Amino acid sequence: MRSNQEKLQVYFELTKQNFFDSSSLTKMSERIHAPAKKRAVYPGSFDPITSGHVDIIQRGLKIFDEILVAVVENPKKKSLFTTKERMNMIQDFFVDHKDIEVKAFDGLLVEFAKNNNANIVIRGLRAISDFEYEFQMALMNRKLDPEIETLFMMPNLSYSFLSSKLVKEIFMLGGGLTDLVPGQVEKKLREKFRKSTQA
Ligand code: PNS
Repeated sequence: MRSNQEKLQVYFELTKQNFFDSSSLTKMSERIHAPAKKRAVYPGSFDPITSGHVDIIQRGLKIFDEILVAVVENPKKKSLFTTKERMNMIQDFFVDHKDIEVKAFDGLLVEFAKNNNANIVIRGLRAISDFEYEFQMALMNRKLDPEIETLFMMPNLSYSFLSSKLVKEIFMLGGGLTDLVPGQVEKKLREKFRKSTQA
């Protein structure tokens, strides 16, 4: 029977003989000792994503390692874009970001967050008028699951008046959307509008 000392000796001999290469051992050890990734959920309708949403996601990435953008599927709420279209617009914008994931969800947000290993929900607060609704939602979510915390973030002042609803209205009335939405979103709005006028 070999002593622990002898076993270690054999292990190091094997390593030297390249049975294991030392770089893969280092990587394995880094993985074992790496701190868990800080992950947050950023839920919303995103019908469509605006520069205000983008701003909140970018601010969120200063705090979290990963942000899961959760696009709500709500058949009761009439949206201009389908869930898939809303998701695609977000994915297109963050195509180079490995730290952004986009998923659709229905049902309770707290359940979705828990099932996706996140215990923080990010919400943007633009103005005092947002506060009551957000306060109610955050406290209800806490009641449903005390483990889930809501973190409010303020967008850049220049987006504090911006909403998906206003974006759609401005577009329909022929106003410019420069700086208000990602370029791709303006293109999708144009396509959607063209289709609806042809139909
Ligand atoms: O962009 P929105 O429309 O303000 O987003 C609202 C959203 C999706 C965050 C909210 O409606 C939601 O969390 N829906 C999931 C259903 C749920 O968990 N309801 C209880 C919350 S109090």
